[in-house]
Amino acid sequence: MKLKDKNILITGASSGIGEALAKITSRMGARPILTARRKSRLERIQNEILQTTSFRPEIIPADICKGKDRAKIQAHLKNKNIPLHILVLNAGITAHGLFEKLDMKVIRKTMELNFFASVELTSLLLPFLQKTQGTKLISFVSTPSGLYGIPERSAYSASKAAGQVWMESLRMELKKDSIRTCIFCPGYTQTNLRTSGLAADGSILKEEQAKNSHTPEKAASILVRSIIKEKRIATTNLSGFIVYWLRTLAPALLEKMIIAKTMKKPC
Ligand SMILES: NC(=O)c1ccc[n+]([C@@H]2O[C@H](COP(=O)([O-])OP(=O)(O)OC[C@H]3O[C@@H](n4cnc5c(N)ncnc54)[C@H](OP(=O)(O)O)[C@@H]3O)[C@@H](O)[C@H]2O)c1
Repeated sequence: MKLKDKNILITGASSGIGEALAKITSRMGARPILTARRKSRLERIQNEILQTTSFRPEIIPADICKGKDRAKIQAHLKNKNIPLHILVLNAGITAHGLFEKLDMKVIRKTMELNFFASVELTSLLLPFLQKTQGTKLISFVSTPSGLYGIPERSAYSASKAAGQVWMESLRMELKKDSIRTCIFCPGYTQTNLRTSGLAADGSILKEEQAKNSHTPEKAASILVRSIIKEKRIATTNLSGFIVYWLRTLAPALLEKMIIAKTMKKPC
């Protein structure tokens, strides 16, 4: 897939990996369409892209958990007659805490954004992808924690695992329409995820960045490569690679490694 002159709609484009993806793809000649809730941040990113590329990306402020906002995104493409080539389902939140302490609302909120909002938005935008000529692509931003359930991340792991298998089904179903699907599992990345996610009681998380985390620009550049190469699944670091292979080859060993890494101190 070539990015030049391709319209790429990115959810969660107001910060982190989504923001970096918008900037990198615009420098490569693509035309990003940015959506997220925070309009002022989208406007800032729009201006920054305009200054470096002289292209003014479309912005659509929207909460993708709300039906009327998803319809607004659909109407924006329809009214402006914008063909869609690439859809990146990147908006997401994390949720931390032992299952026995998790408020059920935390699980529902996590599933709502990380899974159902992406599914419902895709359902609205699929006809746009189907009627665009050439190869098209949907990328779902997941996590290595969606490849194998991680302790104290059950809601987050489950929401991303659901998205991954959904992508696998769509990959086969949509072959007839030349629509590929990619699953992207970045390792720890320095973004706001750990200060915007949910704690077990539903309050906002306040966690430090993970050790050995990389920049959003690095994660986004690997995401771009996975799109260009139309990869089924891609990760950014050794941990993701290890989880991917050990989950089938040696799950007991993988569980020992995960427990040693994540459950040293009580939650
Ligand atoms: N950072 C990591 O270590 C890491 C690792 C693996 C996977 N990931 C995944 O990477 C993706 C991007 O996260 P990030 O790390 O870049 O964190 P981030 O900076 O917090 O980005 C999350 C994005 O989602 C948007 N968002 C949240 N709720 C929304 C809603 N209801 N409607 C529309 N947009 C919403 C946020 O924008 P607004 O607040 O403006 O709406 C923001 O742009 C997520 O799916 C995450 O699970 C991250």
